[in-house]
Order: sequence, then C-alpha cells, then structure tokens
Amino acid sequence: MFDRPQTGERAVLVHLETRGDGEDLLELKELARSAGAETVGVVTGKRQIPDARYFIGSGKLEELALTVAATGAELVLFNHMLSPSQERNLEKALNVRVVDRTGLILDIFAQRAQSFEGKLQVELAQLRHLSTRLVRGWTHLERQKGGIGLRGPGETQLETDKRLLGHRIKVIQKRLEKVAQQRNQGRNARRRAEVPVIALVGYTNAGKSTLFNCLTRAEVYAADQLFATLDPTLRRHQLDNRQVIILADTVGFIRHLPHELVAAFRSTLSEASDADLLLHVIDVNDERMEDTIAEVDEVLDQIGASDVPQIKLFNKIDLKEEPEPRFERDESGAVDRIWLSAREGLGLELLDQALAERFSGAPLRMELRLRADQGALRARLYTVARVLRDEPGEDGWTLEVEISRRDAALLPVESQRQSQPDESEAVRAMLAD
Ligand code: GTP
Repeated sequence: MFDRPQTGERAVLVHLETRGDGEDLLELKELARSAGAETVGVVTGKRQIPDARYFIGSGKLEELALTVAATGAELVLFNHMLSPSQERNLEKALNVRVVDRTGLILDIFAQRAQSFEGKLQVELAQLRHLSTRLVRGWTHLERQKGGIGLRGPGETQLETDKRLLGHRIKVIQKRLEKVAQQRNQGRNARRRAEVPVIALVGYTNAGKSTLFNCLTRAEVYAADQLFATLDPTLRRHQLDNRQVIILADTVGFIRHLPHELVAAFRSTLSEASDADLLLHVIDVNDERMEDTIAEVDEVLDQIGASDVPQIKLFNKIDLKEEPEPRFERDESGAVDRIWLSAREGLGLELLDQALAERFSGAPLRMELRLRADQGALRARLYTVARVLRDEPGEDGWTLEVEISRRDAALLPVESQRQSQPDESEAVRAMLAD
C-alpha cells in the first residue's frame, strides 16, 4: 500500500479549453489530488493553437506568474502535453517546477505500481519521458526530493547523462521481455486448464477494486483516489455452483490517456484483451456516464479488446433513492447489464448467476477421497486437474481439485462415491449433465 505524502505540494493548475470540454478541469483536480498535491490556484482559458514557446500566450503567462506568486505555489501542473522546451521555458519564466499531464499521470503510476512488472513499466515510461527533458537545468530551481514529477524509480536518473539513460532503458526492456514471457507462460497454463478469465475494466474510481475484493475477499488496495490499482491482480474465484473462474483487476482508465502511456502499459492492459469476458464497471451516479462509457470503450479499442464480450455493471446503486438490484439481457438472451452495489453487496448474486450462465462449461472444484491403492489415479489427477489440496489420511488421500467436466466424468465412480456427502450430490449432478 502506498503512503500518501503527508504535506501536499502547493500547486497551481493550468487548463486551456482546446477541445471545448470543460469537464476536463475536474479531472485535473482529481489527478492533482491523487498525486498528493494541494490545489491553491487555477488558471483557465481558451486557445485554439498552443504558443510554441510557452504553450500559453503572454497574457496568460503573466496571470499564471501572479497566481504562483500570490499563492506561494511550488508547482504548476498543466492539463496538456508540453514539449520539453515549453516546459523548460515555463520553468525559467515562473521559477517553479512545471509538470505536464503525462508527467503527472506517470507520477501517480509511480506511486501506485505494485508488481515487479508494473514498476518496470513505470520506470521505462518515466525514463523515456525524461530522456527528452534531461537538459532542463534544475539548478535554477531548488530540487525537492520526492516532489511531483520527480518521484519514482526515474528520479535518480535526472542528473545522469543520456548514455547511461539509454543503457538503463535497454536493461529494463530486457527485464520486461522476460516478465512478459513468464506472464505468457502463466496465461498458457490457464488456457490449458480452460479456466475462463474475466477482467474488470472501467473508468478510474468506478469501484473495480471494491468489487474484486468482495468477490474474492482479497486485500487489494481500494481507496477513493484515482488509479488505486495499477497492476492487474489475478485471483481464482469460485461461483456458487462450484465453477471456477479467474478474475483480473486492471488499471483504471482515464479520459484521454496519453498514447505513449497506452503503449507503455499495453502488456498490463493486455490482461483485458486476452480475457474471455470483460466486466465493465460503471459509476451509475456519474453525470457524464454515457461519455465515460464511450471513453473506456475507446481505450479498450486501442488495446485490441473491443471484441471481447462485455457485461456492464452499473455500480453504486446504493446512492440512488430506491436501490434495486436488477439485470437485463441482450437480444441473444445473455445477461449484459447488471445494476448492483459492490460496497454494500447488493446484486452480487445476480452477477454470480450471470457468470455461471455464461461459463457453464467451466471447470468444477471438488473434493475426492482416494484409497491407498489408487496412487495411479492420484498421479493422473496431477496431470489433468489442478490440485489445490492433497492430504494423506488413514487409508488413502483426500484431494481438492479443479477439474474440467469432461475429465471429471472419466473419474472412477467409487472415488466420487467416496467424496464428501455434500460433494456427492454435485458430482451426480455433474455426471448427469
Ligand atoms: P481505480 O483503481 O482508481 O481504477 O479505482 P476502482 O475502479 O478500482 O475503484 P475503487 O474500488 O477503489 O472504489 C473507488 C471509490 O468508490 C471507493 O471510495 C469505494 O469505497 C467507492 N465505492 C465502490 N463501490 C461502491 C458502491 O457500491 N457504493 C458506493 N457508495 N461507493 C462505492
């Protein structure tokens, strides 16, 4: 879990409407808060074509300088991509650190990355972002260790020369390739086991981690901050009818995710494109719900996940006046929309039921009693099933396995007969299928 900085840096936000999308400012405030900054001033305006030198015009620059001076801000956050020279010129003119949108998002990613792969991806993206900005003359600014835009693994590289930087980028790339290989091996193993993978996707703060936690009771960091989850986290989950699925929690999407970041996090996000089903978590109280849904679909398209079937989960219905969990089906009869509340646990059984319907061929989890003379069967189970537990008993073993329906049907009847009383019914039902 990441410790939030205790004292927020004082930041002035700059947002120019270039697309006529006023809501973006709200998101910038959220991003700033997520990075641990305290917003002490906002400068807004409209501009069709950015100024080559400062991005903003000279009048705006003056207004910005006055705001920075009046508020004692240490940092200016731009809701736009700045070229390295624009960033440099602004820093010289304002005498405070300037961080652009990509730098800000990377900073949040750096704070949140938890897995080895996630950390490497952030470091690589940071180094690439920094490599164009190296010669920025930090000497005229007081370097603040761990400040926004300076945090994370890339921090120590700031003073390093480009040659070293290039070398470091190569090393990380190699490591990432290795991790990706391992990831693929894991994926192939899952495919062999025919366990369906279901990825939770959605706009940041929609409630993915909360849902993931309450379904799998896993301790994944859920906080009311953007990007609480950066790394996909995988957990096995058993549905009420004993079928087994794998749930993957993915990074929260945001509007206008910079392209270079989509590329950097492609392999993390590929958990979504390789999934058998996407659970698209939506905050039902979001005023811009339709736009947000479209934006998430756009990112899914960018990462090649637009063809993966989706169930839309309208979350947080508890905040509605009359919260009533329900579901709707598409024209083919499959459940494709569910209204629920992850935090209050409303409508989770509808989700369970919908998943069970979709994956009725998924493996089963069962307990088997094997006699001492069934050692060969026990060995075979290790090749065809996933053995979760294997306990020697007085006259044999008790095994808990995840096994495909087809292989389960081939099991000798007596081992099933000897399965626990509450299992035998499930086994009989299974064989009757
Ligand atoms: P990112 O990791 O940023 O992508 O967020 P996320 O989609 O994983 O959201 P998360 O689960 O962290 O939840 C965000 C906030 O919404 C937290 O404060 C949750 O407590 C809250 N939340 C989640 N589900 C519900 C719900 O059903 N009802 C209400 N009222 N709040 C919820």
